[in-house]
Amino acid sequence: MQELRARMEAAGQGHVFQHWNRLSTEEQERLVVALEGVDLDLVQAHRALLLAPESASHPVLEPPKLFPSAPQGADAERAQLAIARGQAWLSQGKVGYVLVAGGQGSRLGFEGPKGKFPVGPLTGRTLFGWHAARIRAAEIRYERRAPWFVMTSASNDAETRGYFESERYFGLDPDSVHFFQQAMIPALDREGRMVMSGPGELFLAPNGHGGTLDALHSSGLLDRAIEMGIETFSYFQVDNPLARPADPLFLGLHLLEGAHMSSKVVAKSGPMEKVGVLGMADGVLGCIEYSDLPPKLRDATDDQGRLMFRAGNIAVHALQAQFVRELTTDGLHLPWHLARKQMPAVDEKGQTQTIEGIKFETFIFDALARCPHSVTLEVERALEFSPVKNAEGADSPDSCRTHLTELFEGWTRAAHLAAPPRDGSGRALIEVDPCFAETTADFLARMPRQAHPLAGGWLFA
Ligand code: UD1
Repeated sequence: MQELRARMEAAGQGHVFQHWNRLSTEEQERLVVALEGVDLDLVQAHRALLLAPESASHPVLEPPKLFPSAPQGADAERAQLAIARGQAWLSQGKVGYVLVAGGQGSRLGFEGPKGKFPVGPLTGRTLFGWHAARIRAAEIRYERRAPWFVMTSASNDAETRGYFESERYFGLDPDSVHFFQQAMIPALDREGRMVMSGPGELFLAPNGHGGTLDALHSSGLLDRAIEMGIETFSYFQVDNPLARPADPLFLGLHLLEGAHMSSKVVAKSGPMEKVGVLGMADGVLGCIEYSDLPPKLRDATDDQGRLMFRAGNIAVHALQAQFVRELTTDGLHLPWHLARKQMPAVDEKGQTQTIEGIKFETFIFDALARCPHSVTLEVERALEFSPVKNAEGADSPDSCRTHLTELFEGWTRAAHLAAPPRDGSGRALIEVDPCFAETTADFLARMPRQAHPLAGGWLFA
C-alpha cells in the first residue's frame, strides 16, 4: 500500500487517495486493484502530451490513389484477377474476421451493446445479426469455417457474450467466435491528473479502435489466429450492417498489391459530409478528419467535377497478421489522440461534478502510415455503407432501414419482379437475407425464387 501510494505521489497522482479514509474496506480494496492495473508510464506520457504546447503543423495534403468502383480496361482485368485470388484465399481459410464493438454508442442513446440494435426492416435483425449472416454466407459460399474475433469493452463484454449465446451464435459454430476485450485507460483532467468519478472510483475509458490490435496481441488471439493459418484479418465496425467482410475483390486487390493494410472508401456525398477522408499528409497515407480538412481543399474538385478529397473512410480494412504482430510487439506503435469529453469527477469535498476531461485514443487507420504498400478501393455507397450512429436524421436507424429497403427493391427491379408492398410512409416492405444474396448479381442468380411473406412484406431468405 505504501509503495503504491509513493508511486502515485511521485507521478503527481497522489489525489487518488484523497478520500481514502472515507472509503469502506471493500471500496479501498477495489481502488487498490484498479490503481494496480494502471500503466503509470502511459499515464505520464499522456500527461506530457496534454501539457505540451500545441504544435501548429500544416502538412501538405493530397488525395490518395484510388482503385475505382467501376473499373475499366486494365483495371477491369486486374479486378477479375483479384476476385479469383480473393476467392481462393477465402476457400483456403486464410481470412479471419475482426469486428470492433467496444464503443459506447452514446450518440444513438441505446442502452447496451450497439450490436443489439435492431435494423432489419421486416425481421428486426440486429447489427450483430447482419454481420453474423454475412459470415455465415461466406461459410456456405467458400465451404470453409473462419474464425470471427469480436472486440468488446469492459462496459459491454458480458452482455455481448450473453446475447450471442441467447441467439445461439446466429447459426455459427460457437467455437469459431472469439471475444476479446479492449483495454480501458484513465482519462485526465486539464492539469493531467487522473479523473476520479467517485471518492474511490477511477474513471476509465476505452483506448480507441487502434486498441483492437493491442488487445488481439495481449489476449493471445493473434498468435492463435496465426497458428490456425490466418494470414489476413478483415476488419469492420459494428455500426454498418452493409459491411462485407468476405469481399473477394477487396481481399484479392490487397494480396495482389502485397499490401500490409488496405482500406475501402465511398465517394463523399458532398463536401460537408462528416466522414474522415483517406489522404496523404506530407506523402504519408492516413485518415484526415473532416474538421482538419481546410475548406479550400474540402470543396476542391477534379477535372471531372468530383470532389478531390472524396475518399470517405468507411472503416473497413484488410490487415496482414504479420503486420499486426509488428505493430504490437513491445507495445502498440500508434500515435495517441486527445478527445475532450464531459465526464463525472469528484472534487476535494467529495462532491461529483461534470467536468471537461480528456480521453486518449489510438485509431486503427494511423497504421496506414506504416505501410509501404496499401490499396484504397472505392466502393458503392448504396451497397456497402449505411452506418447507424445517431438517434435520428442522417446515419440513424431510420435512414439505415430506408437505405436497406431501397437497395433490396433495386434488386427486385433488376430481376423484373413486381413492386413489393409498401407501408403507410411509402417505404417498400422488403428484406433480403445475406445468405440469399449480397449483390444484384447474387440476387439475379437466385431467380426465379419466391419471397416468404412476413409482416405484410417480402422476405427473401
Ligand atoms: C469513424 C471514423 C471516421 C469514419 C467513420 C465511418 C474515427 C475517429 N473516425 O467515425 O473517419 O468516416 O467512422 O463510419 O474513428 N470503437 C471501439 N472502441 C473504441 C472506440 C470505437 O470498439 O474505443 C468502435 C465503435 O464500436 C464503432 C467504431 O469503433 O464501431 C467507430 O467509432 P466511433 O467513435 O463511433 O467513430 P465515428 O465518429 O463514427
